[in-house]
Amino acid sequence: MAKKLKAALLGFGGMGHFHATQYKDQPDCTLIAICDVDRKKFEKLSADINLGNSGEADLASVHQYLSYEEMIRNEKPDLIDICLPCHLHAEYAVRAMKEGFHVISEKPMARTLAQADRMIRVSRETGKQLMIAQCLRFEKTFNTLKQAYDSRKYGRLLRMDLRRCSGPAGTKTSWYRDVKCSGGALLDLHLHDTDFVNYVLGTPDAVQTFGVTRVSGGIDDLMSTYFFADGPIVNAEASWCRAEWHTSSVMVFEKATLELEGTRVKISRTDKPLEVLDCSGKNGYWSEIAYFVDCILKNRKPEQCLPESTRESIRIALAEERSALHGRKIPLK
Ligand SMILES: NC(=O)c1ccc[n+]([C@@H]2O[C@H](COP(=O)([O-])OP(=O)(O)OC[C@H]3O[C@@H](n4cnc5c(N)ncnc54)[C@H](O)[C@@H]3O)[C@@H](O)[C@H]2O)c1
Repeated sequence: MAKKLKAALLGFGGMGHFHATQYKDQPDCTLIAICDVDRKKFEKLSADINLGNSGEADLASVHQYLSYEEMIRNEKPDLIDICLPCHLHAEYAVRAMKEGFHVISEKPMARTLAQADRMIRVSRETGKQLMIAQCLRFEKTFNTLKQAYDSRKYGRLLRMDLRRCSGPAGTKTSWYRDVKCSGGALLDLHLHDTDFVNYVLGTPDAVQTFGVTRVSGGIDDLMSTYFFADGPIVNAEASWCRAEWHTSSVMVFEKATLELEGTRVKISRTDKPLEVLDCSGKNGYWSEIAYFVDCILKNRKPEQCLPESTRESIRIALAEERSALHGRKIPLK
């Protein structure tokens, strides 16, 4: 039987619980250890986050640690799965790669571009694989949108409109509410859509963002326009200042409009009845881990989500932040 890789999870908060459940039926990887500085996090098998309940992780044979150092002294993982607060991603990714482990890290790649650059440099120097878990790149629904664009099946893309809004993230004292740690709703939540724009269309010529601060000291409620010469009109809205969780993703092509609704893609055309594609099955969190493990086993780069590309998404998002703060359009090319 082929060798299964061993994963160790760093950070067992909301997203750590979510990732832990995704190892349940991975074909080529087993979760062997989890680590969190807060002992209380091990008391619950599941967690509630904005995405809903994580489900229960099977931790019967998973070792628990209170520090990264202790975990690494006792375990021999192939990869480290980082689910730490954003400002710690780079520090631990760099340490882990230097210590000989491949790294998959939650988004945003890093709090600053300098940190993202360091992660890329160390991945190249050590030869260890690095992938940022931009989950939308692994969701069937979002890939259906991308394929519709790439194939030109419905003609030219005229307009893309993305929305991702919720109440304030975290508790009052959480790292989420400190812009220095999270980057506010713009870098934490909205980055999903910035990254999707980059994934599908590449770097825009310029961005213009209007936004306000309320929760974190950063931009917490915003509307961005991405400019592409002769390209589609692209807008994205995000917020941590709303009553409830709400997302919407729409692409208007010459011959059809594609809209996401949960795990379904609705395709409307003027001359045909509504078509609904069912994209249920494995979610993006499961698929991103499976994909990364496959890349390690086959010794190939994670082309679907290269660190250089997720670094570019951070550059675009930080330009959006500058645009909102200074009230002007920011060129990117
Ligand atoms: N992809 C998504 O849809 C999605 C959704 C939510 C969060 N996230 C991302 O996941 C990451 C984690 O978010 P979260 O909501 O789980 O945050 P969280 O605060 O719930 O969890 C972070 C955990 O890290 C632990 N921790 C902090 N420093 C540590 C250290 N040095 N060593 C070990 N443990 C340490 C904390 O005790 C905490 O339990 C963030 O980057 C966030 O943006 C992604």
